[in-house]
Amino acid sequence: MGRWSEWKPDGKKGRKFILSKMANLVTSLCCVVLAAVVVAYAQRRSQLVARNQYERMGSDVTMQCGSLDNDASVSWKVNGTDVKAQHHLAGPRLILTQVDLGHNGLYSCFQNPNGERRDTIILHIGIPPREPTVTCRSNTYPKGFYCSWHQTHQTYIPTTFEVDVQHNQRSLEVQKDAVHKNRCHVRFPEVFSSFPYYVNVTAVNALGKAFTIVSFEESSIVKPDPPERVTATPIRDNPRRLEVTWYSPSTWPDIDSFPLKYFLRYRPLIREQWQHVELSDSTSHTITDAYAGKEYIIQVAAKDTEIGTWSDWSVAVHATPWIVNPVPSTPTTEVDFSGVPETRTSPIPSSKAPQKAEPPVGRAARLLTFFTFAVGNAAIVCVM
Ligand SMILES: *[C@@H]1O[C@H](CO)[C@@H](O)[C@H](O)[C@H]1NC(C)=O
Ligand SMILES: *[C@@H]1O[C@H](CO)[C@@H](O)[C@H](O)[C@H]1NC(C)=O
Repeated sequence: MGRWSEWKPDGKKGRKFILSKMANLVTSLCCVVLAAVVVAYAQRRSQLVARNQYERMGSDVTMQCGSLDNDASVSWKVNGTDVKAQHHLAGPRLILTQVDLGHNGLYSCFQNPNGERRDTIILHIGIPPREPTVTCRSNTYPKGFYCSWHQTHQTYIPTTFEVDVQHNQRSLEVQKDAVHKNRCHVRFPEVFSSFPYYVNVTAVNALGKAFTIVSFEESSIVKPDPPERVTATPIRDNPRRLEVTWYSPSTWPDIDSFPLKYFLRYRPLIREQWQHVELSDSTSHTITDAYAGKEYIIQVAAKDTEIGTWSDWSVAVHATPWIVNPVPSTPTTEVDFSGVPETRTSPIPSSKAPQKAEPPVGRAARLLTFFTFAVGNAAIVCVM
C-alpha cells in the first residue's frame, strides 16, 4: 500500500493524493477483516488446536471435553478410532483406568448429536523425575569445573534440569555446555578456596521435580584429561627397551604453575599383568625391562602433583622393542643391557591394579605411597 503513494505514472499530485486515500481505505478494511478472522480463530482455537495433558503411569486419568456442562453428551475417539482401552464416560469426561504408555495418543471429543468436535487432547503418560545422578570435575584447574548429570530412570516425557551452584553463600554463574546436553560449566571464583561448593541439580517435568545436591571442595574434583599424543618407539640395538613420550593434556591451562605428574603402565600383549611407573614432571620414560620381541601395550595417566585424582588412561599405543638381527646374535648385544640392573618396577598384584580401561584412581592412588618408593628408584635407574 505504501507502494501506491510512491507510484508516479505522470508526476501529478492530485492523482497521487487519491491513490493515497484509497490505500488508507483498503488498509482499514483489511484490518477489520483481519480482526474478525482473529476473533473467530480464537474462538475455534480451543476446539481445534490440540492441548497436552500429562499423567502419571498407573493412575486413573480424566479428560474433560472443552468446557462443556456436566449434562453434555459427547463421544470420544483416539487417533481417529474408537477408544478400545478400558474406560468409562461421565458426561463430557472420559475416564481411563490405570494408564500406561499404550494410552498415549490424540484424543478428540465430539458433542452429540451433531458430532461437532469440541476438544483435542494429546495424552502423554510418564513418570515424575527422580533425583538425578550428578558428578562434578575440574579438568581445567584452576580455571573452573563442570558438572554433568543424568536421569537414573526414564520418565517418558520431556524433562529439563535446573542447576544452582553456591559458594560462600553466593550463587555462581552457570554456563550450559555447547555440546553435551546434561552438562554445565562454572568458573572458580577464587583459587585455593576452603569454602565448599554446593551444586543443586533439579530435574523438572510436567509431573514433578526432584533434586540432588552434591558438595565438594575445590581440591577433590581436580582430575585432568589423559595425556595426549603418546608414542612408544623401539631403541636401536636395545631389544628390551622402549622409549615412551607424551604431551600433557591440552585442556590443562597452566602446566607451569600447576604441574602434573604421570603414571605409566605397560604390558606385553601376551600377559594380563601391567607394570607401572610413576613419574613426576617428565613427559618421557624409557622402559628397560621389556621382553625381547614382544609387542607391548602402553598407556599414561596424569594427575595434579598435589590435589585431585588420576585422569583416565590415555589411548593405548602398541610397540615392539627393536628385534635383534637374527644372524649376528653376538654376546656384545647382551652386554649392552646386562649392564643395566634388573628393573625394580614392581608389578602390582592384578587384584589391586587399576583395571584395563579404568583410571588409576582410588585404589591405585593409595598404592602410590608404596609405589613412589619402589618405583622411584626404578625411574631413576631407568634415566641413566
Ligand atoms: C496413537 O498413535 C500413537 C502414534 O502413532 C501411538 O504411539 C499410540 O499408541 C496410539 N494410541 C492408541 C491408544 O492407539
Ligand atoms: C534445589 O533447587 C530446587 C529448584 O530450584 C529447589 O526447589 C530446592 O529447594 C533446592 N534445594 C535446596 C536444598 O536448596
